[in-house]
Formats: sequence, structure tokens, C-alpha cells
Amino acid sequence: MAALEVRGVSKRFGGLRALSEIDLRLGDAEILGLIGPNGAGKTTLFSVISGFLRPDAGSVHLDGRELLGLRPHLICRLGLARTFQIVQPFPHLSVVDNVMIGAFNRSSDSRRARRQALEVLARTGLAHVADRAAQVLPIGLRKRLELARALATEPRILLLDEVMAGLNPAEVEETVAIIRAIRESGIAILVIEHVMAAVMELSDRIAVLHHGELIAEGPPAEVARDPKVVGAYLGEPFLAA
Ligand SMILES: Nc1ncnc2c1ncn2[C@@H]1O[C@H](COP(=O)(O)OP(=O)(O)O)[C@@H](O)[C@H]1O
Ligand SMILES: [Mg+2]
Repeated sequence: MAALEVRGVSKRFGGLRALSEIDLRLGDAEILGLIGPNGAGKTTLFSVISGFLRPDAGSVHLDGRELLGLRPHLICRLGLARTFQIVQPFPHLSVVDNVMIGAFNRSSDSRRARRQALEVLARTGLAHVADRAAQVLPIGLRKRLELARALATEPRILLLDEVMAGLNPAEVEETVAIIRAIRESGIAILVIEHVMAAVMELSDRIAVLHHGELIAEGPPAEVARDPKVVGAYLGEPFLAA
């Protein structure tokens, strides 16, 4: 049984078909990359899976349990966390306090939540800015904070929405290493990413969305050579190392 199973999910916004009958499965501790041009429907799919948007059709199962109809906080408590493409930390709160808000998903004991938050900050390379106000962080670290906040909810499945956008190459490498370590701890990850080298390197499989349709799915090297994917998105064959 897949950890996460999306079946036949469709979503319209007025006349626009944002998602058309999407089927996706994410195995235990698997990393699945989700790529595609802007407007392809990637974030919409995340919003459906995490309970922020109701699809018009289809189902989403986590460990065999239907998620559709459940509120986002309940889905989070069941073990599925997401990041947001547009990061919105509480600007005046410190970094550690922002992450504690995620930790409160599991515990109402603030000492335990703080300990959990500090642990997550260490895992995500943010320990040195724990006491800074979130608003003073540069974008690279704000993206990292968004990841830390999601991780602090102790998910089994993590959905990452462009956490590498706007990062410099050194920061991308750091984030790739952090995501790898998260997976090694047993968490399955669905990652939306435009930084092609990073997503190809990280993912066990890649799924490609285009105009709300899943046009390809498979191992990175295969998907990168797929003429449909090259035509719709990559522009030229991506040379996977
Ligand atoms: N809440 C919404 N209302 C209307 N249209 C939306 C809404 N959210 C997304 N869309 C549209 O749905 C399409 C898919 O958007 P999105 O899922 O954000 O794409 P991606 O994340 O792949 O760039 C786009 O055409 C976008 O403009
Ligand atoms: Mg998006």
C-alpha cells in the first residue's frame, strides 16, 4: 500500500481545468519530484492533498484513510505537512517560536514543543538564528524556516512547494542535503521544484504536470529524455549527471 495515494483528482476554477484526473502514489520514504511549467496545477494539487481545497472529483488516501473532507489541521495531525510557496512566517516572532507553532501540532506542552523546535532547527541548519525575528531572515533562511515549521509537526509525509526558489547554488546544495536527511529518517516527500538539477538528483521518480494533466512519470533520467516533457517544459533534454 502506498503511503499517499491520489486517485482521479480533478479541480476546476470556473472554466479552467486546473487538475484533470490525476493519479499519483507516494511510497514509504520515497521522494517523488513534481515538475511542470507555471500554472500547470502543482500547487493546486498540494492544496487538495493537504485539505485547503476541495477537488471536484477523486480521492486522496493516507495509509488507506480518506483525507478528502478533513480540515487541514486534522490532516496535519494524521501525519501530512506542507510548505507554502509564498512563505508567511509570523514576522515578529523569533525563528524558534515560529517552529514551536508547528510542534504544538503534537503537544500542548510548551517545554516539549520548544525542545522539539530546537531539534528541528539543528536538523535544518537554523540553530544559529533561533532567536532572531523571522522578518529579518534573508529569503534563503526564510525558505528553510518554512521547511522547519512543517517538519516540526512530525509528519510521515512532507509536501515541499518550491523550497529552493531564489536560493544561491550553495544554499541549494544545503537544502538538498537536508531533504535527503529528512527522507533517511523515514519521511516520504513530494517535492515541487523548478531547480532542475536539484530535483533530478533528489527524486526517486518524477511526475510531470502540464495544463493540469499528468503527461509523464518515471525515473528522472527517463523523464528528462521524454519528448513530451522536453516540449512542454524543459525546452531541451536535461542532461542528468
Ligand atoms: N484559487 C484559485 N482561483 C482561480 N484560479 C486559480 C486558483 N488557484 C490557482 N488557479 C489557477 O489554476 C492554475 C494552476 O495554478 P497552480 O496550481 O498555482 O500552478 P503551479 O503551482 O503549477 O504554478 C493556474 O492557471 C492558476 O491561475
Ligand atoms: Mg505553484
